[in-house]
Parts: sequence; C-alpha cells; structure tokens
Amino acid sequence: MAAADSVAVLTGAGISAESGVPTFRGSGGLWRNYSPQELATPEAFARDPRLVWEWYDWRRGIIARAQPNPGHRALAELERRAGGRGSFTLITQNVDGLHERAGSRNVAKLHGDIWLLRCVGCGREERNEQVPLADLPPRCECSALLRPGVVWFGEPLPPDEWERAERASRRAQVFLVIGTSAVVYPAAGLAEVARQAGAKLGIVNPEPTPLDSVADWVLRGPSGDILARLL
Ligand code: OAD
Repeated sequence: MAAADSVAVLTGAGISAESGVPTFRGSGGLWRNYSPQELATPEAFARDPRLVWEWYDWRRGIIARAQPNPGHRALAELERRAGGRGSFTLITQNVDGLHERAGSRNVAKLHGDIWLLRCVGCGREERNEQVPLADLPPRCECSALLRPGVVWFGEPLPPDEWERAERASRRAQVFLVIGTSAVVYPAAGLAEVARQAGAKLGIVNPEPTPLDSVADWVLRGPSGDILARLL
C-alpha cells in the first residue's frame, strides 16, 4: 500500500465502535432497538419532529463524549504520509465528525454531519455543538423547524460529496472498506466502482461482509487494532 499513489477509504459506523459510538446493525446496533422508519426518514420528521430530535440529541450526547480511537488516528496519519495532492481520500458514511477530530482533512461525508442543523423553510445551515439542545425541536430565526444535517433514508446524497467520492474511487489504486456492513447504497457501490477501474480492494471488519468474496485482502478484526498495526 505504501507504494500506491492513490488510496481511497470508505468507512462506516464500525470505525467509531471502539470510541463507544453504537453501530446500526449487528449486536448492539441501533436498528435492533429503534426503527429507521420512525427516526431517519423525512416522513418521520414531518410526523413527529420532537421524537426524531430526541433521538438525535441522545446520539449527539454520546458522540460529544467520544474520542477518536487508534483507527481514526491511523487514517489521519496515512493521509499525512500520502503528502496531500488529493492522493488520499477518506469517504465516510459517518456523521460523528471523529475523522476530522483525529486530523483527517480530505473527507467526503456522504451522509452529512450530525453537528449541522438545516432549516426546512429557508434552507439556512448552522453548526451547533450544544448538548443537549435547549429546546426540542429547535427552530430557525425564520421560525421554521431546523432538522439534523444528515441524509435520511429515501433522500439523495449531497451531490458534491458524492462526486468527490466517485472520482476518488475511480482513481484509486487501493480501495479500503473499513467498519461498514456494505449494505447501504449508493455508498457500498463505490467499492465496485473502484474495483472495475482496477483498484485492489481491502476489507477491515470483525465480521464477514458481502464484499469479502471479491476483495484482494480481508483483515478480520477491530479496525483500531488492525489499522494501528498496518501503519
Ligand atoms: P452498520 O452498523 O451497518 O455496520 C457496522 C459494521 O461495523 C459491521 O459490518 C460490523 O461488523 C463492523 N464493526 C463492528 N465493530 C467494529 C470494529 N471495532 N472495527 C471495525 N468494524 C466494526 O454501519 P454502516 O455500514 O456505517 O445511514 O451503515 C451504513 C448506513 O446505514 C449508516 O450511515 C446509516 C445506517 O442506516 C443512515 O442513517 C442513512
């Protein structure tokens, strides 16, 4: 990998598991106890904005107390060693901001950012790291509701972030898939984009994923451990 000019990495909730942030699927996963239809769709927000915000406020609390782990830090270090020039792109499905807190810079955030609030009326966005939020649901100066700046099921991905991610995947000589169940599209499809363009595919995950059978390497275990050793 040290010889590859262009590396792209796709991460998911598993990279933050060792920081104490719950994943979505698997044992202890959020979708075991909560319904995505009631909490992570535009329809759910229209129906019950307070309920949706209570859930996001709770998750913001967990994330605010979490620290980047050796997996986040190893990816930031790999980017530094790659020396900029866009030769290392971190594509994440995570909304927790832990990659940036660990020092990653070239990050394409496919599913948004839990610290951004966006007005459903005027579209204004603001960064807000208050935990817990003072009033639920929060409101914009224009009096319309503010929503979490994340991508919900049934919504398109932010086009600029997606284009950057796709371009990096097409250009990558090495594509690493770390801590994601690789079942949510279009994000999971980037591994195939990269592979078809000739990239070597590596997986880091303690559990099997649907991409294992086409991967060049599968490293089985927690990403904090494995990435720190890989460095
Ligand atoms: P998932 O919860 O689906 O998958 C987490 C993955 O992390 C699983 O494959 C686990 O085996 C793996 N894992 C667990 N502990 C790990 C560790 N210590 N090190 C490495 N891997 C570990 O999370 P995502 O794949 O991120 O979308 O889910 C994708 C999207 O589905 C999320 O962005 C979210 C969710 O619904 C939306 O909310 C739109």
